[in-house]
Amino acid sequence: MINALKGMKDLLDKEAKRYEKVIKTCEEVAKNYGFTFINVPHLEQSALFKRSVGESSDIVGKEMYEFIDKGENQVCMRPEGTAGVVRAYIEKKLDKSNTPKRWFYHGSMFRYERPQKGRLREFHQFGVESFGNASVYEDASIILMLVEIFTRLEIKFKLVINSLGCIECMPKYHENLVKFLDAQSGFCEDCLRRKGLNPIRILDCKNEHCQNLLQNAPLLEQNLCPSCQKDFEILQSILKENEVEFEVDSKLVRGLDYYSKTAFEFISDEIGAKAAIAGGGRYDRLIEYLGGKSGFGVGFAMGIERIMAILEQKEECDKREGIYLCALDETYIDRLLKIATSLRKKHKVILNYEAKKLAKHLENADKIGAEIFLCMGENEAQSQSLFYKNLENKNEKIIKISDLEQNL
Ligand code: HAM
Repeated sequence: MINALKGMKDLLDKEAKRYEKVIKTCEEVAKNYGFTFINVPHLEQSALFKRSVGESSDIVGKEMYEFIDKGENQVCMRPEGTAGVVRAYIEKKLDKSNTPKRWFYHGSMFRYERPQKGRLREFHQFGVESFGNASVYEDASIILMLVEIFTRLEIKFKLVINSLGCIECMPKYHENLVKFLDAQSGFCEDCLRRKGLNPIRILDCKNEHCQNLLQNAPLLEQNLCPSCQKDFEILQSILKENEVEFEVDSKLVRGLDYYSKTAFEFISDEIGAKAAIAGGGRYDRLIEYLGGKSGFGVGFAMGIERIMAILEQKEECDKREGIYLCALDETYIDRLLKIATSLRKKHKVILNYEAKKLAKHLENADKIGAEIFLCMGENEAQSQSLFYKNLENKNEKIIKISDLEQNL
């Protein structure tokens, strides 16, 4: 017996339906915001993620599925989507003229994490990346896009935002923070490692002792340059204007190193402990880091499995659908196939090819979640009709085959 790997899951039946529902909703909303589909490879050179997600992140430090391929390339299963999309933007030379592009994507991401509820080693994200737009209105728009997606999916959330500063103010803040950190002792090993790589990552350390030590640490919000401060204020006023509730958390730094200015997370408490269901922000410096011409980028990604877990609790996807078509005698199957082919122009039809007792067919139809049950027995075969049962409201009747379409 060969089982799926730990932290990796098959997706089928109700779960697959939930997945499709989430993707369909996200795609519809993203298209309304002017985004188009992009697909980039699952396998990339490791250097892409080391340079973008950053050496201070858990993702690069501990979680990459990395190996040497048949030649001598050091490759990695993508742990996130942004870096690959930025690479594609540069490789297609769109950075040269700072071409505005708005793309959405979805698919598998791989992180070697300790599997638990809402945390997998292969999981799926829906994400968007917008290039060439410097305006903070773009940051606000993608936040509003997520609000629209969660509203359509009837998912409650808490929105947390922060500004991480830019090339002007961030280095000075880092310096202040390191001075403060150097004057303290007792930080955990992760914090000590991050101090030299990207000190702001220490701010969101989950260790209680580290958080106590950080109580009087200088905060980002007090160190923003006038331009970052102004953008952050505009972002907040746009959200207020659009009646989106949010909280400012100056310790929100996100787990990836490429952000500057806007950073945000959508949190849900509907799947146990507070879980991030989506996160994103601005990453203007990343294009340059990856060898392109400096430009502007902003985006987000949401964890589809986490959204699916919330939908499951609400039993959102349990609505019955489709027609189950069957017979009590195998000699009727040819007639049923003709009926099915005609109905399939408009409806989803599952045709059972085997004759069975009525009760057994009803049991099957119930199991597969069909809404309408249609069956041909001897009487129905003679009268050119079908036995009809609506499995949702339990209504039953006999319907002439010629009148079928009007009755569905
Ligand atoms: P991230 O915060 O690392 O951001 O991931 C985004 C979302 O993916 C999380 O909020 C969470 O819902 C989900 N997620 C992360 N890890 C797991 C896991 N192990 N199992 C299940 N779900 C998970 C990014 O990936 C950035 N690329 C987002 C972005 C796009 N920023 C700008 N553009």
